Amino acid sequence: MNDKAITTLPGTRDLLPEETARWHVVEERARTIFARYGYREIRTPIFEATELFARGIGGDTDIVGKEMYTFLDQSGRSVSLRPEATASVVRAYIQHAMYRGGGLTRLYYSGPMFRHEKKQKGRWRQFSQIGAEALGSDHPAIEAEVIEMVLELLGSLEVEAHLLLNSVGCPRCRPAYVELLQRELRRRTTDLCEDCRRRTESNPLRVLDCKVESCQPVVAALPAITDHLGPECAAHFARVREYLAAAGIAYEIVPRLVRGLDYYVRTAFEIVAGGLGAQNAVVGGGRYDGLSEILGGPRAPGFGFAMGVDRLVMILPEHVGARGIYRPDLFLAYLGEAAFRKALEIARTLRRAGRLCHMEYDGGSLKSQMRQAHKLGARHVLIVGDEELARERYQVRRMEDSRQWEASLPELIRYFDGGRPAVS
Ligand code: HAM
Repeated sequence: MNDKAITTLPGTRDLLPEETARWHVVEERARTIFARYGYREIRTPIFEATELFARGIGGDTDIVGKEMYTFLDQSGRSVSLRPEATASVVRAYIQHAMYRGGGLTRLYYSGPMFRHEKKQKGRWRQFSQIGAEALGSDHPAIEAEVIEMVLELLGSLEVEAHLLLNSVGCPRCRPAYVELLQRELRRRTTDLCEDCRRRTESNPLRVLDCKVESCQPVVAALPAITDHLGPECAAHFARVREYLAAAGIAYEIVPRLVRGLDYYVRTAFEIVAGGLGAQNAVVGGGRYDGLSEILGGPRAPGFGFAMGVDRLVMILPEHVGARGIYRPDLFLAYLGEAAFRKALEIARTLRRAGRLCHMEYDGGSLKSQMRQAHKLGARHVLIVGDEELARERYQVRRMEDSRQWEASLPELIRYFDGGRPAVS
């Protein structure tokens, strides 16, 4: 590459066709499974008013404080590329009065998100999420439904996943716990990293999530939020666990699991998988009962999750999506202009009959076309030369066993439809 060549920006990348084929498998599988649970797709804009995220996710979170791609547009309005989609989905739910008919509104989405994060394995600045949100009820069975749905998706993709569960309380019971946490942290301030010292004052819950080695002894000794839930949050959490158990879903309670977005109340969860190193969360989610009100809407409790597709694809078993690898059913090799025109016609007919046909327009010699067919892993080669043209019968070569026979176009169509090869 010469040094004038322009490449992707840090934290972004191209998905080449082979990897994209694996993404299709994930996206299609999600669509099929989510539909069965009654989730329908919503598509919201990639950029929104900055205020939506500042209010929705919280001004003191890393996401809003440090990681948003924010700019002023031509009319001087502050806009941001979406760092996540829950705030947008709730905005849309309010904007379109989707609560009007009552009952649950089940939505899912899929698409790119943007966070200016430090580069690390499993972290991109443009990454994709598939997520779902159930809005309109605080029934604890919703937690079990949503978690079961995402686990079913992961299971169908043969990904071994582990569910981590916590309750982060609510605005009524959490302040007392946060105060307790702050008291403990202030006593140990000299043992904390710089970020945690700041968080002690601004957002003490985030200290629980600190990954810095020197903070670990302090974090391990902190009181657990699950021991400080108010009676309603404790009862809700107990019922969530009951519904999960009834669905046969195993989980681990991790009282230190706090999430990086301020809207969570009560249930918070992550799903982790091996093979990802430190960034091992494939799915994150939780309950956000006050978010609609924060965004100016009616009371509309919600629960949902988002799955990191980039991370998921990294750990998919090799064979998943392998079918999407480009492999022509038929490579049409031709010799001369008249044969070229005939080959175009045959390709057109077979494509309409559902076959992947490949032709090179600057084909060159038969030998070089055969070489190209090999390189592409074509299953068959059709040879169209002057003689074949005159007789309207063509040489078919099956590459896996080098068997070669002659066939007319109707015979070829029949062969590809599962008929026996008309070997002459
Ligand atoms: P989140 O935990 O920020 O939650 O992101 C969810 C998932 O997106 C993560 O578990 C991870 O797999 C993936 N992810 C996040 N950041 C990156 C990155 N920089 N590079 C690659 N993958 C990443 C949310 O976004 C919430 N909106 C989830 C939610 C929905 N809660 C309720 N409803």
